[in-house]
Amino acid sequence: MARTPIIAGNWKMNKSPDEAVAFVSELAPKIAAYDAVDRVVAPTFVALTAVASALADSPIKVAAQDAHWESDGAYTSQVSVAMVAPFVEYVIIGHSECRAYLNESDENVNRKARAILAAGLKPIIAVGESLAQNEAGETVPFVRSQVEAALAGIAPEGLKRVVIAYEPIWAIGTGKSASGELADAIIKAAVRDTVGSLYGREIAETLRIQYGGSVKPGNMEEYMAQPNIDGALVGGASLEVEDFAALVDIASGVKGY
Ligand code: 13P
Repeated sequence: MARTPIIAGNWKMNKSPDEAVAFVSELAPKIAAYDAVDRVVAPTFVALTAVASALADSPIKVAAQDAHWESDGAYTSQVSVAMVAPFVEYVIIGHSECRAYLNESDENVNRKARAILAAGLKPIIAVGESLAQNEAGETVPFVRSQVEAALAGIAPEGLKRVVIAYEPIWAIGTGKSASGELADAIIKAAVRDTVGSLYGREIAETLRIQYGGSVKPGNMEEYMAQPNIDGALVGGASLEVEDFAALVDIASGVKGY
């Protein structure tokens, strides 16, 4: 079945509000016509409102890079799902940088996923193994356990709005990337088949799964040509207008149904 491809730029801790607005003002006209692809940018929290305003009349959607599951309260430094909801359609959770530097646990990823779905938004749930796990042959069981934990208690109805991003940690920002075939095999075994055993084959076939980790215009076609890969979660290349536009163009050419 045809799944709408989704290209999301995760800007991480880059671009001030002014820089972010200038960037999307330049990017938006270049990718506005690619309606067969969902196009998403994820600025920092301080740039969210400005970017959302700048893109108000554009088909490009905005994502938050995280959000807390409680609506408000004594959680210094946190921003809630309820607070970002007016400005975004997507929220990225479970990114390996949050898991590594901010102690993001599987349990909290699940709390966030449920809060995001309850607010009518779409979680982009990032999963992926470390180099050591990869070399020890633990990739598939580990990623499967992350997927199962993230989706605990989520009804089939909610799953329709879930996107899962498989990002091997050893491929993030390193210039090393998994081959398209290898990424596809892991995505199938650890993500799509896991969702199949939880929700049934038919629902699993509708799940959108991104690959992430050193995705560039030069390797994008290889990923998009894979049967189980429905787009990309992109760091470095999403910070450049020409590269971002090229990724969308390639996704549309290969998978723009
Ligand atoms: P890079 O594309 O810079 O490797 O980052 C990938 C990533 O972490 C996206 O979330």
